[in-house]
Amino acid sequence: MKTFKKGIEFMNVQWYPGHMTKAKRQMQEDIKLIDLIIELVDARVPLSSRNPDIDELGKNKSRMILLNKSDLSDEKQNDAWKEYFQKKGFSVVKVDSRSSAGMKGIQNMIQEACKEKIERDRRKGIKNRPIRAMVVGIPNVGKSTFINSFAGRACAKTGNKPGVTKGKQWIRLNKGVELLDTPGILWPKFDDQEVGIRLAFIGSIKDDVLNMEELALRLIGFLCTQYPGTLSGRYGIAETGSEVELLEAIAKARGCLKKGEELDYEKASLILFDDFRGGKLGKITLEWA
Ligand code: G4P
Repeated sequence: MKTFKKGIEFMNVQWYPGHMTKAKRQMQEDIKLIDLIIELVDARVPLSSRNPDIDELGKNKSRMILLNKSDLSDEKQNDAWKEYFQKKGFSVVKVDSRSSAGMKGIQNMIQEACKEKIERDRRKGIKNRPIRAMVVGIPNVGKSTFINSFAGRACAKTGNKPGVTKGKQWIRLNKGVELLDTPGILWPKFDDQEVGIRLAFIGSIKDDVLNMEELALRLIGFLCTQYPGTLSGRYGIAETGSEVELLEAIAKARGCLKKGEELDYEKASLILFDDFRGGKLGKITLEWA
């Protein structure tokens, strides 16, 4: 049986501190222009796909969380996470930006999330000032897909507004809401190795810097414990034995062979991740509320 190197190598991945600082500075500027932060998280890893810095950057702003890619995550967990974030004071909507599911609820939720601002404006005698919003989230969470899907039809760019929003493009969603067309990029926080592993599972870290076999063993371990029956259902293998034996069984089931009939564990690992990320293993949440 094959033995594997211990340790997950991605902890050495550099997160480009220069880009991070620039993105953060840009966001600080953009946040000054807006009333509402629409934060996208990945519904499969709602905590690991957040960067808590946004809480500090966005204090005094109305806040919304979208559980994006909810088509890929466990429905029960989606509800549990929705409740979790609502208890923390966020307005929350489950969405699937690729199919536009959940988009209808968002317009109403925006009004709801900003009701204090609307009330403040009303008391000051300001009428019909549109709510300004921006989308933020870590790379690959679906920001562009969401903006296209949500604003696609109403994609009337308002153009630059001299003086106030030089160089900024706003998308007018309706009379009441304008969305900044460039999303704010948050960097994932890597304080905890488990966070890195979960982000690697969902494909938020380039696979070529990762030890995919080691990662596959982790995913196999998780699935067997939390979603028993998943691997046997997909690959027709028995879920008994060690993680390495299960990876071996997947390699055999999928005919992953190198020259000389040696099993190709890496290929089997890539198949497993392709299946997982594409939703072919079913709806799975990696981080439970
Ligand atoms: P970003 O701007 O935050 O970096 O993310 P982006 O919109 O580029 O989306 C990253 C990937 O996630 C894209 O897949 C996109 O289609 C997918 N995606 C976004 N929202 C959802 C969702 O709600 N559900 C699912 N299942 N997928 C979603 P890709 O493979 O990189 O591109 P493509 O092949 O879809 O074009």
